[in-house]
Amino acid sequence: MAKYKVVLTKETWPAAMERIEQHCEVKVWKEAEPIPRTLLLEWLKDAEGLFSTGDVKVDEDLLANAHQLRVVAQSSVGYDNIDIDACTRRGIPFGNTPGVLVETTADLAFALLLGAARRIHECWDFVKSGKWESTNNIPFGVDLYGKTLGIVGMGDIGCAVARRAKACGLNIIYYNRTRRMDDQLLEARYVDFRDLLQESDFIITLVPLSNQSRGMFGAKEFAQMKPSAYFINAARGSIVNTEALYEALKSKQIAYAALDVTDPEPLAGDNPLLSLPNILITPHIGSATYETRNRMAHLAADNLLAGLGRQALPTCVNP
Ligand code: DGY
Repeated sequence: MAKYKVVLTKETWPAAMERIEQHCEVKVWKEAEPIPRTLLLEWLKDAEGLFSTGDVKVDEDLLANAHQLRVVAQSSVGYDNIDIDACTRRGIPFGNTPGVLVETTADLAFALLLGAARRIHECWDFVKSGKWESTNNIPFGVDLYGKTLGIVGMGDIGCAVARRAKACGLNIIYYNRTRRMDDQLLEARYVDFRDLLQESDFIITLVPLSNQSRGMFGAKEFAQMKPSAYFINAARGSIVNTEALYEALKSKQIAYAALDVTDPEPLAGDNPLLSLPNILITPHIGSATYETRNRMAHLAADNLLAGLGRQALPTCVNP
């Protein structure tokens, strides 16, 4: 039987790759930088499947060039790089990988909170650089228990963060587009956005990037936070105005930021954020564990293979 023609904009995990290769003839971009647009368009001319990555814009222009395309699959829960309406107009299903990364991403968001609160990376720098001669100048942190955590975006990952926070004695408030029916189980109180900004000692944001959430944390929002507030972003860099965050941290309008995502990404070594003492940044590793990335790759492969066979995708965004 003839194999399907598929384009991968990055290599995926070996076991998932093997499954794809059993059924497909693949073109894979293997370099570190994103695939050049012209090459991608060329490859897509006769492709039936696209296994995309967040650094590739799947828009009207790209789809118009890909006449044979039956399915787009991506190994991520976020899909702000995909024009879903354009896919739908062309009858192309798009599959992402929700669910399988919930606990892992919640671990990372909570690790940022704990790491920032207890200054773990500064303590490590302190010890490593031989400054530990007495206990006089050790980095001091702040307590979690009894404080208020505000979660912005109470989806599955937000709930998983809330469970961790409860175990550490934090009081939880949250803001979401709609109130959750199960918030009493989580012992989380629904508040409006402004109250959340004003009441929280720690704020974790987990909202997906959309036209509504782009830039939702700017100068006005940082001005409403407590001067002792810790701001944690494990969602997407562009929901924050980076210059406003820099100013808020530099002027000590807020105490600290811990970010897994930045705008731009990757963050250049000379970015002004890196000159600040009150920040901790990780390189977009929310779901980056061996187990979870493997699960995500398999689910994305399931979506791809289902779409190629004109079957319903297990996790389709535009059914
Ligand atoms: C996701 O799955 O959306 C992660 O942020 C990786 O991009």
